[in-house]
Order: sequence, then C-alpha cells, then structure tokens
Amino acid sequence: MIQADLVVHGIGQLVTCEAGQGEGPLGILEQAAVASRNGQIVWVGPTGRWFRRVRPAEGARVIDAGGRCVVPGFVDSHVHLLWAGSRADEAAARIRGQVFADGGIMRTVRETRQAGEEALVEVGRSRLRSFLKHGVTTLEAKSGYGLTAESEETLLRAARRLSEEGPQAVVSTFLGAHVVPDDSTPADYLDEVCEVMLPRFRSLATFCDAWSDPGAFDAGQCRRVLTRAAQLGYLLKLHAAQLAPGDGVRLAVELGAASVDHLHYLREGDARLLAMSPVVCVVCPGTAVNLRMAAEGSARVLSGAGVRLAVASDFNPGTSASENMCLTIGLACLELGLTPEEALAGATIGGARALRVHRRCGSIRLGKRCDLALLDADSYLEIPYRLGVNLVSATVCNGRLAHSA
Ligand code: NIG
Ligand code: FE
Repeated sequence: MIQADLVVHGIGQLVTCEAGQGEGPLGILEQAAVASRNGQIVWVGPTGRWFRRVRPAEGARVIDAGGRCVVPGFVDSHVHLLWAGSRADEAAARIRGQVFADGGIMRTVRETRQAGEEALVEVGRSRLRSFLKHGVTTLEAKSGYGLTAESEETLLRAARRLSEEGPQAVVSTFLGAHVVPDDSTPADYLDEVCEVMLPRFRSLATFCDAWSDPGAFDAGQCRRVLTRAAQLGYLLKLHAAQLAPGDGVRLAVELGAASVDHLHYLREGDARLLAMSPVVCVVCPGTAVNLRMAAEGSARVLSGAGVRLAVASDFNPGTSASENMCLTIGLACLELGLTPEEALAGATIGGARALRVHRRCGSIRLGKRCDLALLDADSYLEIPYRLGVNLVSATVCNGRLAHSA
C-alpha cells in the first residue's frame, strides 16, 4: 500500500496535461483519483481502485471531487506581481478614446518607489491569495516598477519574502530593463543595470528579462543587458514585438532565452525560427485585448508552425490587471484563436516550461508537486465556453488544500 496524506477521488475528468498518460493531447483520464504525500504525487489511477492501493495516513485529507473536472494548478509564466497604486482611471480614458496625461509606466514607478517593502509585501500577499482562488499554484514575479538599484532591490526582496511564505511557488525575474526611467538617460541607466544591479541581484532573481520595443529598448540594448545577465548565471526572458515588429525574436533565439513573450508582430521566418528552437513563446491574451491587437493572428501562426506555447496573464497595472486564468484561457481561444487544448496546455505545462520548472510542476504525474485546480464543471471545455467565469472551486497547492470556495 502507498501512504498518502491527501487523496482526491471521484474525479469525473482528470486532465493530466501529460500526453501518453491518457486520452488525447491533454492525457485525459475518466473517473480518476490522485494521491500525494509530503506535497508529491504518489499515485494516479482509477477512482474505483484508490482505496485498495492507497492508505491515507492519520489526519490525511480525503476529498470527493463529486464527478467534476480536475486540471493541473495553473502556471502563470508572465506576471508583474509587485507594484503600487491603480491605473483604472487611465484604462477608462483609453476605453473612451481619450488621452490621459501623466499616465503610463512612470506613474506606477513613482507610486512603487514611495511604497516601501512592507506595503509591497502586503499588496503582493493579497494578490497571491487572489491568484490562488483562480487556481494559480506557480507564478512569476517580475520587478521593473522601481528602476533604481534601491527600489528594484526592494521589489526583489518583497518577492523573496512572498515566495518563502507560500503556498505558491514564486519565480523571481529582474526586469530592470523595462523602460528608461524619466530621471535618467538610456546610457546611464543601462550602465547602472549592467554594472550595479545585475551583479547585486544575482541571488535574488532566477531570470533576467528586458523589453525590446519602441519606447522601451532596442535589440542592441537588450542584447547588452541579457548577455551580461547570462554571464552572471541568470536565465533569460525577453518581452518582444508587443508594439511593433523587431529583432527581439531573433535575439531571444540566439541567446537561448527560456521564453520570448507577447509576439503580436512576427517577421517573415520568425515563426519557423522559433519552432526550430527550444524557446517558449508566451502569449498574453489579456494584453492583446486591452491593446486591441488580438486580430494580428500571430498566435495562430506560431501554433501552426509548431512552437512551444505558453499562455499567461501578463498581470500588470497598465495593460492587463486580471489574475483570472480561466478568463485568460478563454481569451486565448476566442481572441487569439488557440484551441482549448492549446490554451489549457499553455497555462499549465507550457507555463512551467517558460519558467523552467516543468520537471517539478505543470502536469499531473508521479513525482511532481501535487498542484491541482478543482473545477466547478465536468469538462475543461467549459473554461472558454463560460468566458470569464472563475470555475475554480478549490485549489490544492503542494499537496495541501489551500483554497476552497
Ligand atoms: O505588458 N510590456 C511590458 N510592460 C507592460 C506595460 C505595463 C504598464 O503599462 O505598466 C505590458 O504592457
Ligand atoms: Fe509584461
């Protein structure tokens, strides 16, 4: 008998996101059960058999899913988790077609610089709780709204504290090269990023990210930052082609980035190049919708070329302030044209690949962390169908029931 401290049985549809473990590309098992011990999946099988194979330890939690659908906990691989203030007024002005003076990233930067570590930890904690209610068990936390050595460090320290608190796994990314702050020059700021911040933050962040687009940095400037980061041992990410076509895509492939994110615009040959590389393409449908760029069709071109896809919220104060992964998956289908299977895989195992944690999480399989989203639905097809509804009724994170509606 296998000892377990958590059993979820009576699962009508278990979407493992491991092709080969069940039916179809998502590896679906009907009438299934999952058991875990110390946070790790120790058994997956038919629900009618679990009590002959698994012995619940004293005090174990045994959950009856009541025939509903269970998917892997969502892995949100593009998240600007920490910033202060709100730009709801600015978003409303954009909806009305009005120009909003003094808005944009620098407005959030000013408020974030003033906030201090405690306030950022507090706002981050409440956002993490909301992510949990939306089934997100692993997510990224980018810096990038401080843009001085001191305030970027504050953001990264706040992220580390939140990661230590749990229950979710938080992957830290240093995004000093988000934009040039309005109190510096590109040359001075890039020197500061490369010579001061990158070496100082090595123990605080796994990834280094940069934004290659008009109004942010050009590909040459991003190359400088990311090359230095790679020398120091950071893994790489790149925001690219969100606002215009550019050389960011090629740069990401050349530097062996873990992911290249946004990709609203593709140049001739980009999709093929990406498909031949291990770089994960992270699409952010919430941002595409906010910027009214969904019609570009680049996500379908990427998927048609056979790239590795991830689907992420791009949670941020300017262009996508939603942590609702069911909505994100729905928009990936309805606005970007991905299939429900592509979108769900992108929000789980694809996201895990983009964060390079796919050996630990992102799918339901023996030995992986037991992260589950229990849906108030009998099929994953309800996610895009019931657009925008948070169908997550309970979240298991690291083998513990962390949220229950
Ligand atoms: O995803 N691409 C980079 N950054 C954000 C902009 C966020 C903001 O406006 O604060 C984005 O759109
Ligand atoms: Fe972003």
